[in-house]
Amino acid sequence: MASILSLITLLFTLTSLPSTAPSRNNLPIAKPDCAAACGGAAIPFPFGTSPECYLHYTFWVTCNTTFDPPKLFLQDSAVEITEITLEGQLRILHYIAHDCYYPSTGGADTSNFPSIKLPTYLTVNNTANKFTIVGCDTYGFISGQRLDRNYMTGCTAICDSEEDLTEGSCTGVGCCQTSIPNDVWDVGIELYSYLNYTYVWNFDRCGFAFLVEEAAFNFSSGNLRGLEQVERLPLVLDWAIGNGTCEEAEADSSSYGCLSGKSRCYKPRNGYGYRCACEDGYQGSAYINDGCQGTL
Ligand SMILES: *[C@@H]1O[C@H](CO)[C@@H](O)[C@H](O)[C@H]1NC(C)=O
Ligand SMILES: *[C@@H]1O[C@H](CO)[C@@H](O)[C@H](O)[C@H]1NC(C)=O
Ligand SMILES: *[C@@H]1O[C@H](CO)[C@@H](O)[C@H](O)[C@H]1NC(C)=O
Ligand SMILES: *[C@@H]1O[C@H](CO)[C@@H](O)[C@H](O)[C@H]1NC(C)=O
Ligand SMILES: *[C@@H]1O[C@H](CO)[C@@H](O)[C@H](O)[C@H]1NC(C)=O
Repeated sequence: MASILSLITLLFTLTSLPSTAPSRNNLPIAKPDCAAACGGAAIPFPFGTSPECYLHYTFWVTCNTTFDPPKLFLQDSAVEITEITLEGQLRILHYIAHDCYYPSTGGADTSNFPSIKLPTYLTVNNTANKFTIVGCDTYGFISGQRLDRNYMTGCTAICDSEEDLTEGSCTGVGCCQTSIPNDVWDVGIELYSYLNYTYVWNFDRCGFAFLVEEAAFNFSSGNLRGLEQVERLPLVLDWAIGNGTCEEAEADSSSYGCLSGKSRCYKPRNGYGYRCACEDGYQGSAYINDGCQGTL
């Protein structure tokens, strides 16, 4: 286990996930008497671990203290959250697709179709993530739903020999990356090989496909072996409240989410709903009473 872990650490330079402090500048981010953190992850309102603590059950998160340190999960799902920011991002760990053949035993180890369906208040961040294929005889697709439309795109990675691979460069030789459209909340990944890696000699006969935070993945030739040990990689989601505009939200004061004075409502570039921010010169959480405080 230790060697697998160090291998993973060597092969991946995951951005050091910031261990977000439970509050910024000691300003509260959660409602009174509510957990503001789980392990290293902050839990800012509208997220919360119980009905008194979240805005709506869609913002329900679970802190599982069986793990040391405890781990945060989306609702009661297996989707692990590593970070929630007040700016409207949420970082999760998402499964990667593997497709491996072992000619000596005739065996195959494949999990080529991981998928994720998000609640409507979450969308995949289309600027921070890239659909990525790693392999030498590999192609794959990413497809699913945008707000109300379908999308599909793909990528191919081919290589003849290790000398052809360029460290840090994902441009089609052994690694291929492509962007995804905005407003995506439903992701399905399919992974295939053209010739079952029959002509791939110097690497394991494996291919991989995943949607990943671009800054958290650096291609190296070691990936062609090392990704076999990796189950999940970071993915950035965007969150927002509700599914209406700021004008609609403000009109219903009983459910309006921008509760702090000195706060304003804005429309995210991605997905449904609205977000809240403190006015210039103020900081803290716009989502709770008196959350925005002057800096002077
Ligand atoms: C990826 O590699 C480049 C060049 O070697 C480096 O500047 C960058 O910091 C690396 N990114 C990560 C996330 O390790
Ligand atoms: C916490 O995680 C453990 C191990 O995965 C699992 O068995 C347990 O059911 C989880 N507890 C809760 C409250 O989700
Ligand atoms: C790849 O392997 C599968 C399952 O072993 C087999 O059905 C298929 O015919 C093979 N395809 C090629 C091109 O070798
Ligand atoms: C918006 O939310 C309301 C209430 O939750 C729901 O009835 C409606 O169908 C939603 N509209 C869309 C387009 O999702
Ligand atoms: C994606 O996340 C970054 C922060 O990682 C943020 O600056 C950007 O606005 C987000 N993009 C969209 C489309 O929401």
